[in-house]
Amino acid sequence: MCEKDMLYVLNNPVVDGKFPTFSTDAAQDAMRLHASIPGYQSTPLAHLGRLAKVWGLKDLYIKDESYRFGLNAFKVLGGSYAVANLLCEKLGKSIGEVDFDYLISAAVRRQLGDMTFVTATDGNHGRGIAWAAEKLQQKAVVYMPKGSAAARVKSIEAHGATVHVTDLNYDEAVRLASEQAAKNGWYMVQDTAWEGYTKIPTWIMQGYMTMAMEAIGQLGEQQPTHVFIQAGVGAMAGAVQGLLVEYYKDKPPVTVIVEPKNAACLYKSAAVGDGLPHAVSGDLQTIMAGLACGEPNPIGWDILKQSASCFMSVDDYLAANGMRILSCPVLGDDRVIAGESGSIGVGVLDLIMNDADYRELKNALGLGADSVVLLFNTEGNTDPVNFRQIVWYGKHLKPKQ
Ligand SMILES: Cc1ncc(COP(=O)(O)O)c(C=O)c1O
Repeated sequence: MCEKDMLYVLNNPVVDGKFPTFSTDAAQDAMRLHASIPGYQSTPLAHLGRLAKVWGLKDLYIKDESYRFGLNAFKVLGGSYAVANLLCEKLGKSIGEVDFDYLISAAVRRQLGDMTFVTATDGNHGRGIAWAAEKLQQKAVVYMPKGSAAARVKSIEAHGATVHVTDLNYDEAVRLASEQAAKNGWYMVQDTAWEGYTKIPTWIMQGYMTMAMEAIGQLGEQQPTHVFIQAGVGAMAGAVQGLLVEYYKDKPPVTVIVEPKNAACLYKSAAVGDGLPHAVSGDLQTIMAGLACGEPNPIGWDILKQSASCFMSVDDYLAANGMRILSCPVLGDDRVIAGESGSIGVGVLDLIMNDADYRELKNALGLGADSVVLLFNTEGNTDPVNFRQIVWYGKHLKPKQ
């Protein structure tokens, strides 16, 4: 195995498929609320059947979240569902009783008064919160880590939010947002959890299940044998995995969790092996900005440590390879525009299927001619400048070894 490409830890799933907070019923509640938002459409499940054959797999699908509500990423599913739940709580209603029209009605707006939602983000989550606040005629304040791409800042400001680009890393920006929320009486809507802050992140995670529920419906009879899910804090991966192990309880897929090597906190937690979440620190530098998180979400970690089969810490060039592969499909396959955090599953799968150094891993995961693989393109070209640098001009090729 070459340490420059990836490191991995194999894990024995122990669970028999029960995470009640992330059940099919909970996913259906989230999907019903999302479906009531004007402009809702299920995102495409791109089919890469010809690429699957080239790589020696039975079939390959990638859920394409670049189409989500015109926002170029899946994240809005979580933020919008959490904000809807927050409003319901304030109104004394249950989420099952309301739809989006009701939440934006003039009477409800009067009853709620002015609310400000605050969050820290590397881009996609903040855009989702700004979008939800705008739709609900409320305010949003967003803190971003140092070095945030100008296009990502602009896309949040475009929804009327106040954006502060800090000189902090992601986890420090989260703490700053939390302090500002306490000081100003704002509502902190953060996409990760910590001790004493779990209710809102749980709603966010439940919102993410819409993506997985749609994919399950689109797959129909075709059951995935393998799923690759990228992780920042692991909230999305935990929610998706919670649903998959319940839905496919007779034969749960082999799930691989993928993180960038400078922010591989779930991988580190699995490698330490004491069952506890372990943080990584530093500036978390990676081109996969959406995955640059150093502290695991404890709710997600709890699900993943019981049910995932493998945790990976991978090099940035694999995300760039994934972007190139998806953007230039095998003739007859669907084309997918993927950003750095969206494409990593494809880059990793390419390496495992085609590089002899990873044969042992390929065998351990049981990847081969009977495998139906499901991936998630969680974002489109959210940094369009870097997208072209990578896809057109070949930036981030495999480093010389
Ligand atoms: C595009 C993209 N993919 C994946 C993730 C990972 O989600 P999580 O932080 O819940 O692991 C994020 C998080 O922001 C993201 O923006």
